[in-house]
Amino acid sequence: SPGLHGRVDDHLGTYLSQKTKIMNGSQDNMFPTAIINDSVANNGPFEQKDSFPKQKAVSDNALWRRSMKLSMEQQAWQKSSEGQKMLEFRRSLPAYKEKDAIVNSISKNQVVIISGETGCGKTTQVPQIILESEINSIRGATCSIICTQPRRISAMSISERVATERGEKLGENVGYKVRLEGVKGRNTRLLFCTSGILLRRLLVDRDLKDVTHVIMDEVHERGIDEDFLLTVMKELLPFRPELRLVLMSATINAEIFSSYFNGAPVIQIPGVTHPVDTYFLENILESTRYRLTADNQIDDYGQVWKFNKQIPNKRKSQIASAVEEALVSADFSEYSQQTQDSLLCWNPDSINFNLIEYLLCNLCEKDKPGAILVFMTGWDDISALKEKLQAHSVLGDPNKVLLLTCHGSMSSAEQRLIFEKVDGGVRKIVLATNIAETSITIDDLVFVIDCGKAKEASYDALNNTPCLLPSWISKVSAKQRRGRSGRAQPGECYHLYPRCVFDAFADYQLPKILRTPLQSLCLQIKSLNLGSISGFLSRVLQSPESLAVQNAIDYLKLIGALDENENLTVLGGYLAMLPMEPKHGKMLVMGAILNCLDPILTIVAGLSVRDPFVSPLEMKELADAAKAQFSHGFSDHLALVRAYNGWKVAERKLAGYKYCWKNFLSPQSMKAIDSFRREFQSVLKNIRLIDKNASSYNTYSHDENVVRAVICSGLYPGICSVVHKDNSLSLKTMEDGQVFLHSKSVNAHDSRVPYPWLVFNKKVKVNSVHLQDSTAVSDSILFLFGGSISIGDAQEGHMKMLGGYLEFFMEPAVAIMYQTIKRELDELIQ
Ligand code: CDP
Ligand code: MG
Repeated sequence: SPGLHGRVDDHLGTYLSQKTKIMNGSQDNMFPTAIINDSVANNGPFEQKDSFPKQKAVSDNALWRRSMKLSMEQQAWQKSSEGQKMLEFRRSLPAYKEKDAIVNSISKNQVVIISGETGCGKTTQVPQIILESEINSIRGATCSIICTQPRRISAMSISERVATERGEKLGENVGYKVRLEGVKGRNTRLLFCTSGILLRRLLVDRDLKDVTHVIMDEVHERGIDEDFLLTVMKELLPFRPELRLVLMSATINAEIFSSYFNGAPVIQIPGVTHPVDTYFLENILESTRYRLTADNQIDDYGQVWKFNKQIPNKRKSQIASAVEEALVSADFSEYSQQTQDSLLCWNPDSINFNLIEYLLCNLCEKDKPGAILVFMTGWDDISALKEKLQAHSVLGDPNKVLLLTCHGSMSSAEQRLIFEKVDGGVRKIVLATNIAETSITIDDLVFVIDCGKAKEASYDALNNTPCLLPSWISKVSAKQRRGRSGRAQPGECYHLYPRCVFDAFADYQLPKILRTPLQSLCLQIKSLNLGSISGFLSRVLQSPESLAVQNAIDYLKLIGALDENENLTVLGGYLAMLPMEPKHGKMLVMGAILNCLDPILTIVAGLSVRDPFVSPLEMKELADAAKAQFSHGFSDHLALVRAYNGWKVAERKLAGYKYCWKNFLSPQSMKAIDSFRREFQSVLKNIRLIDKNASSYNTYSHDENVVRAVICSGLYPGICSVVHKDNSLSLKTMEDGQVFLHSKSVNAHDSRVPYPWLVFNKKVKVNSVHLQDSTAVSDSILFLFGGSISIGDAQEGHMKMLGGYLEFFMEPAVAIMYQTIKRELDELIQ
């Protein structure tokens, strides 16, 4: 692009002067606080009060007490039968009954652990109990309780529930804050938020100055943010003796938290559980006329049926082999011949949809009322099962069955349906991921069907490859799933696997910190000034292996987020403030600097949502053809930009749905991209990377090569070499050797890829390694924007070639641009 370097220069100039402003500001820490002001709170718990004069505090207290006084409306509500019923309900919860013990223990100990069965009232009652006791105490006016949830969906639904229980509107005493959304008011004293939001707050308020209580819910899940937060809190507590930390956990593993916090007291809330009839696969088969066939069908026993003694596909992963071993040595002789034959045909690698459909039909016919919860692994199998059930004469009849789904990315409206009671005669069936295991309680639940698996993120440190595969759950999870029934009355649980497989499950799931790449975590450790990365990580509850830590540090150095002494660079400082993976953050930063922000916003938003290109199995060819219309340019990312731009035009004419339908796009994903774009744009403004006039950042938005360069700058070192071989592509990465393209990628269907490199966002290891999305880039783009140094020793020949290429062929303008950028960035980093 002629003239590009000039613009880049200009832009870097402004960028630098803005930067100087920020650095010279009054903040003693180097990051601007703007992001926090917007994304956290203006009032309420996160308000930053400087030393408050005592008098003011007193009058504030009085004011607040007055505001705490119930409005006429609320008083009336509390006296109403509805209000009384609610109070009665609250009093009936086991957690409420431990009220005094809880208040007492918190007053005496800085850290308290509360453990109890799911549904006993920890999440809804404990924060209220603390709030109510504070209201009656001297500290009332300044009490500020933060309750963290691992998932945004629970933060939202629980705050709403708690407000309802108090007869208040959300945003009065109780509020919530999650990424993208939040409701809170001047008097909000109990804030539900995600763990990520609290971590973000710690960036600018390391002491949690005005916070009186931090309640961390669902700590047993051992998410990465939660484990990190635990260590940060542990190190903060000695400096804030007044601060109270309450950890709430299912009964699974409360002891390790107690010992991590030097023997902190554990309050065990006794649970009320009803008996649950439990059926494993052999019991299910034994009690039906059905049996399994080798192709995972179920057959009516009365029909002609060919039995195939072959055991299907061998399993490969470690846990699977434990399962296989268990299967081989299992003794089923006490069961009928049919059952034994069926079990031989059972395929542990896939979920038997037919069996689920059959069970659901049976359960729907029962007189016993109650909702049915089906645990599936993820969105793909939930939607596939849903489609199948909708086609069924009974299960698909909305007069008989209310079929719902429950997963992490559903909207709040969808979510509310799950809690709603259904009319008699209608059976509620919820297809859920393991989100329904501990964090969501469906009240009228009586029946559980458990597929035994969950999508589990794992991380292969040796090959530096993240994997996301459905894997067997742990014993604890299986019990937890079972326990979801039988809460209000005796329940029934159907495990779709034999008991011997259950016996082979691991006791617990590995904590997330041990099975995930650590780049974002390392950035956060640095930006919170928590000392050396490996030092800090040696103090967490369970330390990750050092290779995984080193990989993350190397990566952050490579992309320029850390310098050679592991100090945060300016770029790193920005990346730590952006609520996304570093590579996506870097893409945004570069998109702003190189003035092609609009398409980059779309791409980064697109990488944050479920793939908008849908591809139903039976219509795969049509779907591929639809995607191909967008695909010139050999880039999945640019294809998304075109699809989104087209949708946006159609949406303005109110034809967005039609456009999606025609082009095999998901309208939900398109809308999600739209809102993420807005969010990212406002975050960029808040960290002052762009100013109000967003249009001035789009001079090169239509120049695909500039966009390609920015994609490359973000995704590097996610890079694979392309060699043309007999009309097909041979692809290799440094770590994996031979890799393949996902069949949905636009590059998978076109072997003409004109450039020697593909950059990719995500590779997934299934059996071989697959690149999910990719953009083809030229040598010069890679050289200039891909961090020029470390393509690696193995590529040394290529480096020489690149050097030659630069000397002899490169346009002078590009060379100047490179020099300019490099100089400016060097300056920036200093
Ligand atoms: O956190 P824990 O699993 O111990 O229980 P909880 O989430 O506090 O829920 C306690 C009870 O409140 C549940 O058993 C439900 O009966 C009820 N609840 C509800 O009706 N609606 C909600 N949105 C949340 C909870
Ligand atoms: Mg809970």
